[in-house]
Amino acid sequence: MIHANGDYLKLPGSYLFSTIAKKVAAFTEANPDKKVIRLGIGDVTQPLCPAVIDAIHKATDEMAAAETFHGYSPDLGYQFLRETIAEKVFRPLGTDITAEEIFISDGAKSDSANIQEIFAKDTKIAVCDPVYPVYVDTNVMAGRTGTYDETTGLWSNVIYMPCTAANGYSPELPKEVPDLIYLCFPNNPTGATISKAELQEWVDYANKNKAVIVYDAAYEAYISEAGVPHSIFECEGARDCAIELRSFSKNAGFTGTRLGYAVIPKDLKDADGVSLHALWARRHGTKFNGAPYIIQRAGEAVYSEEGQRQTREQIAYYMNNAKVIYDGLKSAGYTVSGGVNAPYIWLKTPDGMTSWEFFDFLLEKANVVGTPGSGFGPSGEGHFRLTAFGSYENSVEAMERIKAL
Ligand code: MLT
Repeated sequence: MIHANGDYLKLPGSYLFSTIAKKVAAFTEANPDKKVIRLGIGDVTQPLCPAVIDAIHKATDEMAAAETFHGYSPDLGYQFLRETIAEKVFRPLGTDITAEEIFISDGAKSDSANIQEIFAKDTKIAVCDPVYPVYVDTNVMAGRTGTYDETTGLWSNVIYMPCTAANGYSPELPKEVPDLIYLCFPNNPTGATISKAELQEWVDYANKNKAVIVYDAAYEAYISEAGVPHSIFECEGARDCAIELRSFSKNAGFTGTRLGYAVIPKDLKDADGVSLHALWARRHGTKFNGAPYIIQRAGEAVYSEEGQRQTREQIAYYMNNAKVIYDGLKSAGYTVSGGVNAPYIWLKTPDGMTSWEFFDFLLEKANVVGTPGSGFGPSGEGHFRLTAFGSYENSVEAMERIKAL
């Protein structure tokens, strides 16, 4: 065997969003006259806000002079950004996360993919179903997910926690105890949230069972309702069981510039008493040479007064799109959820269509791109995700086209 791990070969031929991109490219090539509206991948469309652009210009100018030039970034991140995050993000939430517990990276996708590296080969993972595909795919690549059942689409050594309309898209505590639990709220793909009291139950469960929670909070900036936690560290005892992943992509439009961070408390140890903070620092320092200085300065500017005002305006813009999509689908007779605390709208496919059948139908008949629910896991079958990250005009037009079907 010359390839890394035979399990790779049982994964779909390409990553979900690459498969969609290929299908859309084939469609546009065959239909060059059609205007395709892309509401598939959760990629932002609004330009970076002025406060961020100013910071990028300023930092770029610094790079042009020998006295202020910056070479390799510190592998764990510049202190100015780590301190800003601790003070502007975590202190207002009443948490005691410190700058030293924040590891700057090139984005939450990388962190959510790489974090499994600090866990043992026989680690048992639990995931929501449907789920952001990176969590399962990377554990498959690490060879810890058992055998694949082509009929069910399930891996034998993964605990799936179905999130369906029946349970309000909120996972139940698993009976079989996992070592590592992936949670993402506000959720990608369903847009669902859980209350602080519900999240506290997860923290208590993890502490009782010596499990670790990887909490993906990439969409926290979209929370509009009170009582929805912005960070797992708002819960008592989370420092003993949780890692949190954050992104600048969705709260400030950094999908093209890349910036994110992981929070790993110093107190966090695995079941054998090994410090996960120390392991991640070792891994990060070895495999990552630091996010670029210019982009870390841009990230710092997100937390300036203007940066906060301007990025909140962008979030409001996208959430207005979410309302347009949600209301448009409802009035077209679809069963819809999400879109209130998240930029994702989750709908049931009509007439018993499979997710991929509906993908093709929507692309061909309305020239609108979405994401098939089954791409996120077996429980996503019969569902479909649309994102609010397009332009307002395209969101309105997409709804008009869907209503006309
Ligand atoms: C998505 O569409 O689910 C997101 O774009 C994924 C990501 O941020 O990597």
